[in-house]
Amino acid sequence: MKLSLLLSLCALFTLTLQTPTAEKCDCELSNTKPFPHDQLNSTQSKVADCNNNVTPQKTVELESLLLGLERRLPQLVADISELEQDDDGGMYGVLALHVIENELTELRLLIDRLNSTMVTNRQLSNDTIQQISTIKAELQELETYDTLQVIKRDQTNKRLKRDLDQCMNGHQPTAPPTLPPHGLCPHGRFVNVTGPRINTAGEYPGSFKYGAWGRDPKPLEGRESWYWYVPMSASNKYAHYVRLYSSLSSLVVGVSVPGNVMIHASNPTTNTVQGPNVVLYGGALYYNCYNQDSVCRFNLTSKTVTTLQLPKGTRYNSKSNFCQVDECYLFTDLDLATDESGVWVIYTSNQDYGNLVLSRVEEGPDGLQLGQTWHTSVYKQAVTNTFMACGVLYATRFVSKDTEEIFYSYDTATGQEKFNVGIYFPKMFTNMYYLNYSPLDQMLHTYCESNMVSYKVVFE
Ligand SMILES: *[C@@H]1O[C@H](CO)[C@@H](O)[C@H](O)[C@H]1NC(C)=O
Ligand SMILES: *[C@@H]1O[C@H](CO)[C@@H](O)[C@H](O)[C@H]1NC(C)=O
Ligand SMILES: *[C@@H]1O[C@H](CO)[C@@H](O)[C@H](O)[C@H]1NC(C)=O
Ligand SMILES: *[C@@H]1O[C@H](CO)[C@@H](O)[C@H](O)[C@H]1NC(C)=O
Ligand SMILES: *[C@@H]1O[C@H](CO)[C@@H](O)[C@H](O)[C@H]1NC(C)=O
Repeated sequence: MKLSLLLSLCALFTLTLQTPTAEKCDCELSNTKPFPHDQLNSTQSKVADCNNNVTPQKTVELESLLLGLERRLPQLVADISELEQDDDGGMYGVLALHVIENELTELRLLIDRLNSTMVTNRQLSNDTIQQISTIKAELQELETYDTLQVIKRDQTNKRLKRDLDQCMNGHQPTAPPTLPPHGLCPHGRFVNVTGPRINTAGEYPGSFKYGAWGRDPKPLEGRESWYWYVPMSASNKYAHYVRLYSSLSSLVVGVSVPGNVMIHASNPTTNTVQGPNVVLYGGALYYNCYNQDSVCRFNLTSKTVTTLQLPKGTRYNSKSNFCQVDECYLFTDLDLATDESGVWVIYTSNQDYGNLVLSRVEEGPDGLQLGQTWHTSVYKQAVTNTFMACGVLYATRFVSKDTEEIFYSYDTATGQEKFNVGIYFPKMFTNMYYLNYSPLDQMLHTYCESNMVSYKVVFE
């Protein structure tokens, strides 16, 4: 590494660590200790153990935080190994150091939140508290490590190893995993729902009653761990931006680093979002466009909107909503859904007498097109929400303020319809305004009266 480069790295690191003297930095550079992978590994397994030991019912908030932490540590490990493989030590290394620094800051924030939750929760055992402080101490120790050492590790070995790998693999690029065709479920039969695993008020507690959130099942490169949030910011009905978070823990602690991507400056207007049942897929938001019987796709990269007109007679503008006994959910005429195979739209029409209709949303030669369509015999207003998993449509109904039931399914592969699915799950809030399945981690994401709650799907 060139001396000038070392000096600039050194200057950067001095700044970020807020150590005022250059002497200290020199001293750290001469230290040749490698990054303590073992320690990170053991911290990681302690977090996982801790997560398993905590009883789910009373400590969902705590679980969300721990899950955030558990997901966060592998990301840190991955970033550090990426840094190790970076052989020129140039600008890329500097940027990567920034990334790691930010991650550590967020981890610390997360741990502080964990601690305050613990302090207020009298039910928690002393044992768990002890584990958390051990983890905190270990993370603090990891944080003091000079990550520059990571770059300085034996690059010759790395290069040799990479040359060998390339030689063995014959330079063939690895093909991305292909999505299975709908109807074929890689996980087995859907049998149950457990949780909640995540329950968080997020960044704006109590502010937006209706909304949607989740993960992009087909994320753009580098955004694999990102989460998105679309609050209905006008009259509980309309939205005009997508808010992004770089990880689950950022969502829970409410730190939106990428911030908002605006669909339109005003709200509501042409092409803004109408109703909460939206999904993000392949870097684009799919939703019911304002005042139209059509699906809009907003590309977050190009900031352009493509529309897909639904068949004549499709009901829209809050005419055929999802309902429970006492209340119908505003502007839920169109429900967008994702599963292992892509994007779907669930709606109803005059010619279907208010029964649910399911269509695939596909990429056509001239933009979006409506793919195959299925007509069901379940009446939409008897349903509180729907989602797709492995090519099967599922519908929920309201049982009580504490319980919701997945009562109905329609298998698009066989045409088989079932009215006795009988999967019950506990609710944290009376009304579930949004429900969607995440094929990435087999979670059900729900948005309930300003809160983000998620469940784990159990497959046979
Ligand atoms: C960390 O743990 C994983 C398995 O959990 C193992 O494959 C890996 O080699 C470990 N890394 C180190 C540096 O110990
Ligand atoms: C924790 O343990 C100590 C003794 O080991 C006990 O005095 C204290 O009441 C315990 N705290 C809680 C919250 O259970
Ligand atoms: C947890 O928070 C309390 C104050 O609420 C503080 O006294 C304590 O040192 C914190 N513990 C850890 C491990 O951060
Ligand atoms: C589904 O999960 C719940 C909660 O874990 C459990 O009580 C119930 O017995 C499970 N039902 C089936 C059919 O496995
Ligand atoms: C979004 O726009 C970008 C840039 O124009 C393009 O590369 C990408 O394919 C588009 N994505 C979708 C889903 O249309």
